[in-house]
Amino acid sequence: MKGKLSLNVVTAATTMGSVRSAGLSLLLLSFLLYLADSYPNVDLSNMGCEECTLRKNSFFSRDRPIYQCMGCCFSRAYPTPLKAMRSMSIPKNITSEATCCVAKNSYETEVDGIRVRNHTDCHCSTCYFHKI
Ligand SMILES: *[C@@H]1O[C@H](CO)[C@@H](O)[C@H](O)[C@H]1NC(C)=O
Ligand SMILES: *[C@@H]1O[C@H](CO)[C@@H](O)[C@H](O)[C@H]1NC(C)=O
Repeated sequence: MKGKLSLNVVTAATTMGSVRSAGLSLLLLSFLLYLADSYPNVDLSNMGCEECTLRKNSFFSRDRPIYQCMGCCFSRAYPTPLKAMRSMSIPKNITSEATCCVAKNSYETEVDGIRVRNHTDCHCSTCYFHKI
């Protein structure tokens, strides 16, 4: 009786552990999808950069085309206002502002068993992701 009880405790602990790691990988997966859904314009110089629009993704376009938002949006840099500078933990005297070319509308689809997003509408909006 006693041995059976401790076995149950172990089983319960294992179940809890796998539930937790499943939750964690789900979280990681949605984070990756979130990143994959925002295509930032990292070219702040705007050199040779075309406007934000839907473009065919040649890698995922097999039998049916997959579209993704690409292109440049507004960006500018200016000296940091003194007031804002004081509130920064690491003061930078140049502040840059930018918007990114992101999907306004998209839906998930599958190409060769890989889940990808087919974008249907683009706009310049908040950058979800900054390249470090
Ligand atoms: C993606 O969307 C376009 C139209 O916006 C459509 O023509 C194309 O078939 C879609 N591709 C897939 C794989 O659903
Ligand atoms: C910003 O600071 C650097 C040194 O930290 C200086 O060389 C540069 O001239 C400064 N720029 C402006 C706009 O104040």
